[in-house]
Amino acid sequence: MIPENAGPAAVIVLAAGAGTRMKSRTPKILHEIGGLSLVGHALRAARSIHPQRLAIVVRHERDLVAGHVSALDPDAVIVDQDDVPGTGRAVEAALEALHAEQGLAGTVVVTYGDVPLLSGELLGELVATHERDGNAVTVLTAVLDDATGYGRILRGEDGSVTGIREHKDSSEAERLIREVNSGIYAFDAAVLRDALGKVTTDNAQGEKYLTDVLSLARAAGGRVAAVVTADRWQVEGANDRVQLAALGAELNRRTVEGWMRAGVTVVDPATTWIDASVALDEDVRLLPNTQLHGATTVARDAVVGPDTTLTDVTVGEGATVVRTHGSGSVIGPRAAVGPFTYLRPGTVLGEKGKIGAFYETKNVTIGRGSKLSHLGYAGDAEIGEDTNIGCGNITANYDGEKKHRTVIGSGVRTGSNTVFVAPVTVGDGAYSGAGAVIRKDVPAGALALSVAAQRNAEGWVPANRPGTRSAELAQAATQNSSSTPASTEEGK
Ligand code: UD1
Ligand code: MG
Repeated sequence: MIPENAGPAAVIVLAAGAGTRMKSRTPKILHEIGGLSLVGHALRAARSIHPQRLAIVVRHERDLVAGHVSALDPDAVIVDQDDVPGTGRAVEAALEALHAEQGLAGTVVVTYGDVPLLSGELLGELVATHERDGNAVTVLTAVLDDATGYGRILRGEDGSVTGIREHKDSSEAERLIREVNSGIYAFDAAVLRDALGKVTTDNAQGEKYLTDVLSLARAAGGRVAAVVTADRWQVEGANDRVQLAALGAELNRRTVEGWMRAGVTVVDPATTWIDASVALDEDVRLLPNTQLHGATTVARDAVVGPDTTLTDVTVGEGATVVRTHGSGSVIGPRAAVGPFTYLRPGTVLGEKGKIGAFYETKNVTIGRGSKLSHLGYAGDAEIGEDTNIGCGNITANYDGEKKHRTVIGSGVRTGSNTVFVAPVTVGDGAYSGAGAVIRKDVPAGALALSVAAQRNAEGWVPANRPGTRSAELAQAATQNSSSTPASTEEGK
């Protein structure tokens, strides 16, 4: 049963082309902008108008493309194009796969897998115009300064669309036409099927042109019209890496602008990159050179950047994240991270917690208010609340073969350069002395020390490094302070 508010009968996404100008071992439509493949963007736009069926035509690197598409959109019908080249043949193959001969009725939309900025809104507008006006074909067009390479829109004296002429088949006069075919259309299913049956390969490229359907539909008495968009980016394809970068930058410009309009402060839009999949709250502040990827979310009043890259990171309300590289992590509300911090997957920092400068973390849960302020590594560990981990602490989690866990309680204070040789547990309220190597569990409230007594070899430097600056200064100091005690067992 078809839901009442269902969109067009089908969207057909064309993606059989080779994309040779990309010069890549990766199929063109699998290249990414804004954290999503080109074809991913095309599928998103197609899905947003709620088609009853969605088909995608593949050929070049068939298995790779089909696998990628199925992972993104399991309901998409994968259609294989045969040896007959051309956009017309591609659509014909899709209609066969959708069993159009068994009465596919209504609107069929055609889009391209390599046109990533096409929006669902524009596609919806195309379909709405098409259906409102009872058209046989409605083509999306744009007027370009340089129309080289594109199919040109032919119009009659009354301005109505009469057909499309491919660049390679066009006359000198036709080449002056600046209105171009985007390759995106809405068709009446029956008109499309009948016209494709009549399309030949009799043209400059020996291909079955989809564009021939327009003049055929018109000849059969159908109404053919165009929706002209002023937004050329929405119909632009990525054919090489220069266009890929330009489209990526434009997509980002639009995404960043959208977030600014939604109440996010972006200090430097040009160096701020936000994937389409990221979510931000009002009053978030993004400082220059910040990249937010994947499923990253940033809550209200948080400040991220400068120079920060976060992938799949959840940033809590009012948190600050400075010069940080992070992935797969959770930063609690009002917590502080950075500068120069590396958060690896599984890091969970509690409310008002801190992971400071030159820290690497992985697979560690840090309780509310606990601080790892400087220089260290915390991995495969669990740290309680209001614990202070001293400078230079390390969880030695790897025995050369296996990883082991360190469990540290709440209210713990560790001395500088403490090493936790996992597996090991430190109880609540315990302390450790500087340089402690914790090999055994520490009970709650204990002070763990693993210090060897310090021994000072008096006069060692002048005796063993005579003539050096150190020896000279040492001699001067001992002469000047002859009244001070000459020797102490333990240093202060
Ligand atoms: C096509 C249009 C042209 C339009 C231009 C817009 C035709 C005949 N021409 O030209 O009017 O201005 O797009 O970019 O339609 N594809 C297949 N199977 C094929 C051939 C192409 O699936 O056999 C797919 C490609 O992967 C691509 C799209 O169709 O996504 C367009 O193919 P492309 O070769 O770029 O067509 P153009 O010659 O540029
Ligand atoms: Mg093209």
